[in-house]
Amino acid sequence: MIVGIIGSGGREHAISQMLKYSKKVSELYCFPGNAGTSKIAKNIELDTNDFEKLKNFILKKKINLVIIGPEKPLVNGIVDYLEKFGIKVFGPNKIASQLEGSKIFTKEICKKYDIPTAKFGVFNNVIEANQFIKKSIHPIVIKSDSLASGKGVYICNNEKDSINAAKEIFNGKFGPAKNILIEEFLNGEEMSFFIISDGISIQNFGTAQDHKRVLEGDKGKNTGGMGAYSPSRLLTNQLEEKIIKRIINPTLKAIKDIGTHYKGFLYAGLMIVDNDPYLIEYNVRMGDPECQTILPMLQTDLAEIFMSCCENKLSEIQVKWNNKKSLCVVLCSNGYPDRFDKYVEIENLDKIKLNPDDFIFHAGTDKKNSKVFAVGGRVLNFVSLSEEFADAKKNIIKHLKNLNWSKGFFRKDIGHKVIDK
Ligand code: AMP
Ligand code: GLY
Repeated sequence: MIVGIIGSGGREHAISQMLKYSKKVSELYCFPGNAGTSKIAKNIELDTNDFEKLKNFILKKKINLVIIGPEKPLVNGIVDYLEKFGIKVFGPNKIASQLEGSKIFTKEICKKYDIPTAKFGVFNNVIEANQFIKKSIHPIVIKSDSLASGKGVYICNNEKDSINAAKEIFNGKFGPAKNILIEEFLNGEEMSFFIISDGISIQNFGTAQDHKRVLEGDKGKNTGGMGAYSPSRLLTNQLEEKIIKRIINPTLKAIKDIGTHYKGFLYAGLMIVDNDPYLIEYNVRMGDPECQTILPMLQTDLAEIFMSCCENKLSEIQVKWNNKKSLCVVLCSNGYPDRFDKYVEIENLDKIKLNPDDFIFHAGTDKKNSKVFAVGGRVLNFVSLSEEFADAKKNIIKHLKNLNWSKGFFRKDIGHKVIDK
């Protein structure tokens, strides 16, 4: 089959790589892809917000299956649009994508279906928000309702910071804001939990611990993710059961009750408090860098899994994993998550010799005249599988040292909770 992948990050390179291994896949297209995907697929420069152009290309090239990597096209309804033309698409439709597109939509579902989550209030004006803030015991969490690439969340330790956060959101820092969300602060350890669904049945799709802060020791600004490890150290059978029973199943029921279904990856961002899961947020896609961390452990043909979801046959497939431990370290451009230079050359990439359990997935890279350039904040993902997290990390550090890219940096303490005991 011919497969198309929308997106240009490390997640999409990892998905492309796994599809490349599939005997079922004859040709791969990436829209627009990166320097990494250009080695295994045809990169197509097309505005992925222009659904019509995309549809025309897909029909012309007779692409059998399209995978949507990032949330934005999903929230904007790309699945509904392409399916109207008979195209098979892996990803949730526009209504189901509200789980990520609107935090208030998700919170209302939590309330109605008794899904454990932080206590919350929704406010449509700054006066009432401020009245509530003044009565609250801090810390509290203030969030914009809409997609804000992980930025529209303020953890506020005092009244002054809270009032300022509410003001910034209502003033449109993350786009026009009709409402804000104020939440109780949950004190626990975070965990990323993934399932895949065809709208009828689900299968677990791994767990991971992300490292969102830019600096070692989990300090500094929030980023898209500086590294991850999988499986999560918090995972037990008992916790997994609680997550499925209390959070995932009622959410999928809620989506059915609205009159639609959930097809695609569902990523639950959880806070585990005293062994009990609380939902912080949903994402309607794989995580990045969690996807790069989890996929190399997959032992089932990914193309078959995606196709089975599009044909409502997921229950006929058994998704299998190896028992190894996986770690991912993200190499970033100096300056990230603030300003960084673009089109900085990355030399030495060809000199790195990878073992079968080691991977380099590209993120913000571009290829020009057979040279690779950094064009984004997060540039390369170094992943290694091993029996022990410590060995996986040693492999990664060795490769990073060999690359010796002076224009970038990475966190040396990824996995510190499972390694530096
Ligand atoms: P979100 O975009 O909703 O995932 O929030 C971004 C980050 O803020 C999360 O990954 C958590 O680290 C933190 N966060 C969000 N909501 C809460 C909460 N209610 N309690 C504690 N931390 C939170
Ligand atoms: N790594 C966090 C995310 O993908 O949202």
